Amino acid sequence: MQQMILDVDTGIDDALALMVAVRHPDVNLRAVTCVAGNASLEQVVRNTLTVLDAAGAGDIAVAAGASRPLLADASHAAHVHGSDGLGDLALPLSTRAVVPMHAVELLRREILASPTPVTLVPLAPMTNIALLVRMYPEVLVNIERIVFMGGSASVGNATAVAEFNTWHDPEAAEIVLTSGVPITMYGLDVFYAVTIPPEDIIRLTATSEPGAQLVGRLLQHIVSVKGGEVRVSGEGHGDIGDAGAVCAAIDPDGLSTVNLPVRISLGDPLTRGQTVVDHRTAGHEQHGAGDLLFRRIDVALGIDGARYAKFFLDTITA
Ligand code: BDR
Ligand code: CA
Repeated sequence: MQQMILDVDTGIDDALALMVAVRHPDVNLRAVTCVAGNASLEQVVRNTLTVLDAAGAGDIAVAAGASRPLLADASHAAHVHGSDGLGDLALPLSTRAVVPMHAVELLRREILASPTPVTLVPLAPMTNIALLVRMYPEVLVNIERIVFMGGSASVGNATAVAEFNTWHDPEAAEIVLTSGVPITMYGLDVFYAVTIPPEDIIRLTATSEPGAQLVGRLLQHIVSVKGGEVRVSGEGHGDIGDAGAVCAAIDPDGLSTVNLPVRISLGDPLTRGQTVVDHRTAGHEQHGAGDLLFRRIDVALGIDGARYAKFFLDTITA
């Protein structure tokens, strides 16, 4: 059984990711920690609890963490995720409660209590994870790997070169990347490549099972935000975003990674939050910043989108 913890800013695609982690039979989702990102911390917590209800999750510990990045101001993404962060679908409020401790304390507790090293999957600005690295570095040995959604080896989305999660809290991302824990970067290079066909979105939306139905409605929202429409004629594929990172954390064989030096741009306003990936061959690394400043991580550059689309659908509808 894979021991897993998600750190989320729920968020439409975080919701899809939660569904996968809750429903996959080989995953023990030990905890979910929340951070400000797509929406305010309060809204993220509310959304996370609502999604766990729809997923039919058992008693999974959820904690609230950082309400803003380490240095910068918070900046939410209502234009993508709706004013409530979950597509304004008027979903019912959950009666679940969060555990009365900070997310960093819950991360520490569950990492230490895990019978085998945990897979930590941050799908949001990495503020909580950076705080964990600084406050409790001794627990990091019990993290098998961090598979984070964020960054890009090519173009950005929040800015021309920076992806939203690393852009929202670049200092946190830099702290995590230099933590010494094995890291996989599931960035924009692969993020949009796992798509669900319209016929499946229609089928999911029409089901009476609450979790699958929510997935269908969220995918409809993803398609419409991009100006599309889900049609029986075959138009309107919906990408699963963050959920792809969870699929890859469970089943890494569909991901092609290259171990490359990466550093976060922190100072320059034009590139702030960019993950600067050094693709040069080993002999050239002494020029420029070099390996002293850049840390090597596994950067996902290729993905079997069809494999993870099937993995996603099979897990949601099992
Ligand atoms: C990331 O930003 C958020 O909008 C998504 O939830 C995802 O984690 C993509 O850049
Ligand atoms: Ca997210």
